[in-house]
Amino acid sequence: MDGKRYIDYHAAFGPFILGHCYPDVVERVVATIRETDLYGISTTELEVELAKKVVAHVPSVEQVLFCCTGSEATFHAVRLARAATGRRKLVKFQGCYHGWHDYLLRNVLSAPELVGQRDPVSAGMLDEAVDNTLVCDFNDLEGVERAVRANPEQVAGIILEPIPHNLGCILPQPGFLEGLRRLCDREGIVLIFDEVITGFRHHIGGVQALAGVRPDLTTLGKAIGNGFPIAAIGGKRELMQRFNTRPGGNVYFAGTFNAHASCVAASLATIETLETGKVHDHIFRLGERMRTGLRDIVARAGIPAAVTGFGSVYVLYFMPDGPITRYRDLLRNDAGRFVRYRQELIKRGVFEMPMNLKRNHISFSHTDADIDRTLEAAEDSLRAVLDTPSNCLPRRRA
Ligand SMILES: Cc1ncc(COP(=O)(O)O)c(C=O)c1O
Repeated sequence: MDGKRYIDYHAAFGPFILGHCYPDVVERVVATIRETDLYGISTTELEVELAKKVVAHVPSVEQVLFCCTGSEATFHAVRLARAATGRRKLVKFQGCYHGWHDYLLRNVLSAPELVGQRDPVSAGMLDEAVDNTLVCDFNDLEGVERAVRANPEQVAGIILEPIPHNLGCILPQPGFLEGLRRLCDREGIVLIFDEVITGFRHHIGGVQALAGVRPDLTTLGKAIGNGFPIAAIGGKRELMQRFNTRPGGNVYFAGTFNAHASCVAASLATIETLETGKVHDHIFRLGERMRTGLRDIVARAGIPAAVTGFGSVYVLYFMPDGPITRYRDLLRNDAGRFVRYRQELIKRGVFEMPMNLKRNHISFSHTDADIDRTLEAAEDSLRAVLDTPSNCLPRRRA
């Protein structure tokens, strides 16, 4: 609106794996909606084509259903886990976000005094939903074991991002994902990988393909449609067959706009581009360049900072280097400096969301020249932040 241009790493919270208005996606969508749109009866050929691709690429997915948003996908996963186990409780991890519904909207980016306490994110949430969701620390397998032992035969599902990104980036410690898999097998719990951010972005088969751990259910969204509103829930056939999309299924699944042809077309075009193998090579390489460049910059500045991320995702925390294995570790981040630095970046034409702990996303459309410009802007922005007395920095809740 004001004639300024930005290099965008916010990427609308992550869907853009190829880039904004990516020509192959736009052209496929336009061509498709000249022919077809939405019928609301049964399944379309396009949808079947997309389902086949998801099943072919995502190791644990034997069947898949499409919806419009990641929140719908996680909602369906929770309900299916409860129906399949006849249990009520869920386990999620402190700091993680899985959508806006009552089932999982607690203990997201909690203020320090609420970490590990009861912390519903919204007014109006049902107490019963909040209290049936147990909160553990990521990477603390013993803590999850304890929570399950304390609630014998009551936990229906454990849901996690296999690489949590709603707080920047925390990597799973060796053995953590495998340990959750064993625990779920032993206790009859449904293991749900929420790959709404990581799916397709980190690998065409999701983090599960990289980690070699197969969840029972997987939720997908964001990068699956490069900016179009499509998401998915998939998993083991025996579970997916419980949905009422099949005769006799008693777990309700619906949505007027599910698998709209425009979104399915966007997703097919996106996945076909990923299938060339070029996208991940490019975005991983640029991600590595960005992280290395930022590490050099903070080392030159001599300030406490930690640069982390995975593949195309990067984040610069303003905190002493040290282990980052759970949300509590990120309370050391100087939220004021984090936001102020990003405000300085925006002045210099680089858009990183000026919100504490938010991650950045590199897309296939970003170039080496964009990384060079970003690193230059980063060095200047950091200098501007350091030149400002810290008592002038805005203080924000973590
Ligand atoms: C991991 C994860 N799951 C679920 C969601 C919810 O997706 P949506 O915003 O499409 O409802 C998000 C959104 O940020 C997310 O990051």
